[in-house]
Amino acid sequence: MALVELADRVGMLLGHEQRRRLRKAQTLRFRGLQHLLCRLCFGSNLNALAIWYGSDKGRGHRYTGHYERHFAPLRRKRINLLEIGIGGRDDPQLGGASLRMWRTYFPRGRVYGIDIYDKRLHDERRITTFQGSQADQAFLSAVATAIGDIDIVIDDGSHVNEHVLRSFAFLFPRLSENGIYVIEDTQTSYWPSMGGSSEDLDRPDTTMGFVKRLTDGMNYAEYEKNAYEPGYYDKHIVAMHLYHNIVFIQKGLNNEGSNVLRRNRWNMPWQPAQGPGKE
Ligand SMILES: C[S@@+](CC[C@H](N)C(=O)[O-])C[C@H]1O[C@@H](n2cnc3c(N)ncnc32)[C@H](O)[C@@H]1O
Repeated sequence: MALVELADRVGMLLGHEQRRRLRKAQTLRFRGLQHLLCRLCFGSNLNALAIWYGSDKGRGHRYTGHYERHFAPLRRKRINLLEIGIGGRDDPQLGGASLRMWRTYFPRGRVYGIDIYDKRLHDERRITTFQGSQADQAFLSAVATAIGDIDIVIDDGSHVNEHVLRSFAFLFPRLSENGIYVIEDTQTSYWPSMGGSSEDLDRPDTTMGFVKRLTDGMNYAEYEKNAYEPGYYDKHIVAMHLYHNIVFIQKGLNNEGSNVLRRNRWNMPWQPAQGPGKE
């Protein structure tokens, strides 16, 4: 029987704050134990963790394989991970599945979540939640200050194109030097109801239209344009991995310059490189 119901039955008059604390105690009862068991049994298997904690990043979306590929080298590091979107919508007790999944996967990591709804019931050791909108830069600024260095951002929030781009514009520059920014559910780029378009696939105000432009920026050193001034993204994105409905953007210093022997510099026609084993 739920502790709150039990207390009600014995006629205790609980104030709002007391009820909240009791609910939290009830929700947290077995979480510490669960976390330890999962960590021991399948701590590095994200798919198993997603199923265990009830996140749709595994069976539903099939994102866990991609996450493992990119996150495995960071697994034992002291990273700070911020996820936009905690889940469970307006029910304060629901959600938090992926926050718990990340906490177990990164045994030394700190996990932060933001949501437009109050999700404080999910706060526990190495998990902190904040309430506010991903489209509100003053809120994001307060969150970034509270966290300090942010090594990974995962956008699994509203998936409204405008919100995704606003969050990226604010959070990407605040990501640590070799951080990773992940945007989930990029299919909304094609959905007019979410501010996307299936007609004009290059519209810069959709997530995928914007992302496609960033891919060119990685090669800015090769532009044959006089006096091109590289922007922040040109200079700070070193790799991008695009999968079905999810994008990983790797931050780093993109300052190696051109690695091409240019036709006009060497006054000779450009020759394609020969493949291995050919004369
Ligand atoms: C798909 S769920 C997140 C699921 C969770 N990341 C998981 O994998 O278990 C999306 C969440 O985003 C939240 N959300 C919607 N609009 C938002 C906004 N503008 N800012 C922040 N969170 C938002 C919703 O309340 C919902 O809880």
